[in-house]
Amino acid sequence: MKMTVAAPEVVRTIADLRSKIAEYRLRAGPAAKVGFVPTMGYLHEGHASLIRRSAAENGLTVLSVFVNPLQFGPNEDFERYPRDEKRDYAVAAEAGANLIFMPQVEEMYPRPMQTSISVRGVTERLCGASRPGHFDGVAVVVTKLLNIVAPDRAYFGLKDAQQVAVISRMAEDLNMPVEIVPCPIVRDADGLALSSRNVYLSAEERSQALVLSQALKKVPEWIEDGATAPELTGRIARLIRTKPLADIDYVEVLSYPALEPLAETLPLKQARERILVALAVRFGKTRLIDNVLIG
Ligand code: PAF
Repeated sequence: MKMTVAAPEVVRTIADLRSKIAEYRLRAGPAAKVGFVPTMGYLHEGHASLIRRSAAENGLTVLSVFVNPLQFGPNEDFERYPRDEKRDYAVAAEAGANLIFMPQVEEMYPRPMQTSISVRGVTERLCGASRPGHFDGVAVVVTKLLNIVAPDRAYFGLKDAQQVAVISRMAEDLNMPVEIVPCPIVRDADGLALSSRNVYLSAEERSQALVLSQALKKVPEWIEDGATAPELTGRIARLIRTKPLADIDYVEVLSYPALEPLAETLPLKQARERILVALAVRFGKTRLIDNVLIG
């Protein structure tokens, strides 16, 4: 049963959100499906694609907009992370969200957390290595949100492929009764992967940042040529370094979703696993991530 309300409703408290979802489940009966799209707001077309997919697959779509302080390091951009509730509301409404959960920090964390959640293994490399504690913060907030919303399905963008691997592993390890649905990266027409942080980029930084998707686009061809993991990362890094503003944090080739290194001498076209080619690169103060999944 589809929720019939045309305009989404903004909900600020956990109690109110739970009661509205319960009301929907009661009305819709046992076949009711609830889809959930957790975000930190400043919504773009990537988020809209997740909302649309959820709205197509579920009777009720809940969106959360919450900039989670726990997943930001001390020198990261928590304070300046872009926020715009009105704009988020308009994007969410257009894409088909039914309930928009917009809690204050005090609602989510009324007192300091004494509980932590650490997913080992899959968090050891990539952003897990560059941003210590980041995935613990993500794991806590996603667990809290999943406990609050209790959705049948939760939708996550593959631009954060490591985040998808971490959350899927956590949901599996903890027997969370939810299907984690990975969704494709959405790009601007010129190839730049959509991110709320793209607004930080100057025109020159943005133009040079196009090298990221250009490099990733070449990956299938380089793999076909017989590249090994070190050769592939070398080729990508060399191309990125042609842009003077690019400061590489990492370029890595790992198995997916285990996120383990591949044999260094193995031509990647012979690899049996799915392969993730992931990178994080700073342009000025803005750290961008992007990736491609092969296989
Ligand atoms: O991907 C994000 O926007 C965030 O990490 C998430 C999943 C909403 C948790 O705060």
